[in-house]
Amino acid sequence: MAKQGKTTVVTQQVKFEEFKADLMAIGLYQDSGSVPAAFAKLDKAADGKIADLLKLGDFTGKANETAVVYVNGKSPCPRVMLVGLGKQEDLKLNTLRQAAGVAARRADRLGAAKVALALHASVAGFDGEEVGRVLAEGALAGRYDFRDYVTQENTNGRKVGDMRITIVEPEAKTLGKIKSGAKLGTIIGEAQNEARRLANQPGNEINPPVLAAQARRLAKKFGFVCKVYDEKQLARMKMNAILAVGRGSVHKPRLIVLEYTGRKGKGGKKAAIDLAVVGKAVTFDTGGVNLKPTPFLDGMKFDKCGGCAVLGIMSGLARLKAGVNVLGLIPSVENMLSGDSWRPDDIIRTYSGKTVEVRNTDAEGRMILCDALAFAAERKPEAIIDMATLTGACRVALGEFYAGLFTNRDELKDGLLSAADRAGEPLWHLPSGPQYAEQMKSKVADLKNVAGREGGACNAAAFLGQFVGETPWAHLDIAATADTDEEKPYRAAGATGFGVRLILQYLEALGQGS
Ligand code: BES
Ligand code: ZN
Ligand code: ZN
Repeated sequence: MAKQGKTTVVTQQVKFEEFKADLMAIGLYQDSGSVPAAFAKLDKAADGKIADLLKLGDFTGKANETAVVYVNGKSPCPRVMLVGLGKQEDLKLNTLRQAAGVAARRADRLGAAKVALALHASVAGFDGEEVGRVLAEGALAGRYDFRDYVTQENTNGRKVGDMRITIVEPEAKTLGKIKSGAKLGTIIGEAQNEARRLANQPGNEINPPVLAAQARRLAKKFGFVCKVYDEKQLARMKMNAILAVGRGSVHKPRLIVLEYTGRKGKGGKKAAIDLAVVGKAVTFDTGGVNLKPTPFLDGMKFDKCGGCAVLGIMSGLARLKAGVNVLGLIPSVENMLSGDSWRPDDIIRTYSGKTVEVRNTDAEGRMILCDALAFAAERKPEAIIDMATLTGACRVALGEFYAGLFTNRDELKDGLLSAADRAGEPLWHLPSGPQYAEQMKSKVADLKNVAGREGGACNAAAFLGQFVGETPWAHLDIAATADTDEEKPYRAAGATGFGVRLILQYLEALGQGS
């Protein structure tokens, strides 16, 4: 198995033209036409080759565009990589994050093991800590590839094992902030890559018991509590929806319960749970008896991405030593079909006591989530956020650019939208009011698991909303954002780890507020 090389991000005070590395990546705005003052000396050391390239118009500076200038030993870095930052007025933190991803990814392909990042030199208006953080996050994200099962080396152009990335900063005054930001960004980027690594594993490698073992491993490694409920315990607890969905598979269901306590209670009392995060982990979704047609089975290993994101979030929180208390819940099943599968028309008595008529076994995510949500609500957290690759309808509605956000509280909406923007993991608010809940009523049970096709993502959210009682709750439908078929210049195809940066960003704001 090809081992993923390690990426280390450090920060150093040094002039651009004096730093020695295999490659230096510099950030340039679109249509700037000439070399910015910050890089004048670097260009001089490079015999004016950067200016020549700009004059020829071979590099326009569009976001994520790259060009490499070979300097022939005249400057300490043999390669200078120009990375486009787009128009200056459009610059966002996410532009820098992606630029770092582009630089790290392309450097990797070029075989540069020692890389200097000077992407932020002409960037103003952001806090140094944020800059360091997004550069590290982006670099780590950019370098990740799913190559766990590739035994032939040097396919895919990869040459580098470990990579050392130095953020070069000539000014002493911002150095400290960039450095501390880069430390945070490294932890967050690694947490996200861990979620991606797990999510990319195929169904023959990861099933519910294996995922539970991975959760235990991470809990032990990073220091949070992990308790796993197996099928016998789930039966005793009456988690009948999780059991029903998982029954058709030889790989039996698990409920993974994680607890991170970063804040002690006052006066000997147990501290409240600030947030419960619940993630759907269907290790493979065949659709069950309502079997998916062949083209729709593709990529259904990614139906566990919500749960994998929860594992990344809990690992990140523990490593960051965040001052918040978070409960993580991962209901995990394989939605398989066999002689013992659940079937349409079944009526399930769920953990909450509410009964559900099964209209379609492919609407399994809401079933396993409803038990986990009811369980989470019993612990009385300040809020619950669930993440799930829940509906094809959400993909149709929003495409791959936004995840759907549904909530029963405006405050949660505002907090999540702002965290999403900062984290570069965008959300779009969609409705799920009583009109939709009305459609989920059954004639023979309290609820049915599917209504009509129209408004499918909203219906699913309205179903879930009936299992949290009065608890403030938000549901993120990540069906379109959790994985991608297409490689981007700043990240590999496959699992994206969507939700890890977003929720860690959201929790950071919570921690600061208290
Ligand atoms: N896991 C799927 C949703 C999905 C579809 C995720 C495509 C990613 C890509 C989910 O379990 C499902 O099959 N939903 C059905 C619901 C329907 C039966 C009401 C869907 O969206 O078609
Ligand atoms: Zn399904
Ligand atoms: Zn599913």
